[in-house]
Amino acid sequence: MRELLEFYVAAGVDCALADEPQDRFAESAAAQIKAAQKKQSAPQRAGEQPATIPVSSSAPSPGSNETAAPRPLRQTAKVPNEEVIAAARELAAGATSLEKLQEAVNGFEGCNLKKYAKSTVFADGNPAAKIMLVGEAPGREEDISGKPFTGPAGQLLDKMLASVGIDRSAAYFANILPWRPPGNRAPTSVESELCRPFIERQIALVDPDILVLIGAATAKVLLGKSESIVRLRGRWTTYKCNDRDMLVMPIFHPEYLLKQPAQKRLAWQDLLTIKRKLNEASAGS
Ligand code: URA
Repeated sequence: MRELLEFYVAAGVDCALADEPQDRFAESAAAQIKAAQKKQSAPQRAGEQPATIPVSSSAPSPGSNETAAPRPLRQTAKVPNEEVIAAARELAAGATSLEKLQEAVNGFEGCNLKKYAKSTVFADGNPAAKIMLVGEAPGREEDISGKPFTGPAGQLLDKMLASVGIDRSAAYFANILPWRPPGNRAPTSVESELCRPFIERQIALVDPDILVLIGAATAKVLLGKSESIVRLRGRWTTYKCNDRDMLVMPIFHPEYLLKQPAQKRLAWQDLLTIKRKLNEASAGS
């Protein structure tokens, strides 16, 4: 049993999505049979072949007394294409408030990650904050809590921010992807591209003075920069948003800092730089 559990964890199956098990294979097979039966009973137009329930190669041969076994699961996951990306863009552009954007994200079915996630992790913190921090994707704890940066990396981030006088109520947190990739694997470029319109709209609606991009992958998606985070961190750059150049600072990901604590010194310097800029912005407003 222990080995089986270890196998599940290694395969990324590390938390339950519901209290009761659900047989998705049976659900899917029943839905397909129902749809085919509906089609079959629909009035037939001239020249049309009657609809048949498609059968798998394991189906009983004609005349046999065997009952038909459920068909193997048909692939229900969608392959994201330009159309789905365009739909995401349209939904995001039509959201005139963070609440409407959250509704749009919750209702968006174009990203396959949603099928495997427990929560849609939209945001945490203060939407009126002057500083917004964007990470890559929720992990296990975030999927369970439904809030970004609540696991070990998030706890380190909270401590780092607190050390320069910024707490959760003075910042706004979100991720490029609102759904956890199974087993915390790195998101694919298609998944990031698919969710990019939502985070871009979220940034525009929050309209912070300072945008902090957490980790290289986030900087790559939002700034289009492929340089290593070692080169990007600690340097101000800009992000075009709401017809202005928003100030942006890429920083080390706290997950990286958990593995490389010696780099916390540099992360601390970056946070002090950010804090100074925040103070300047407050003094000027
Ligand atoms: N890592 C991220 O990039 N985001 C989270 O919310 C948690 C961990």
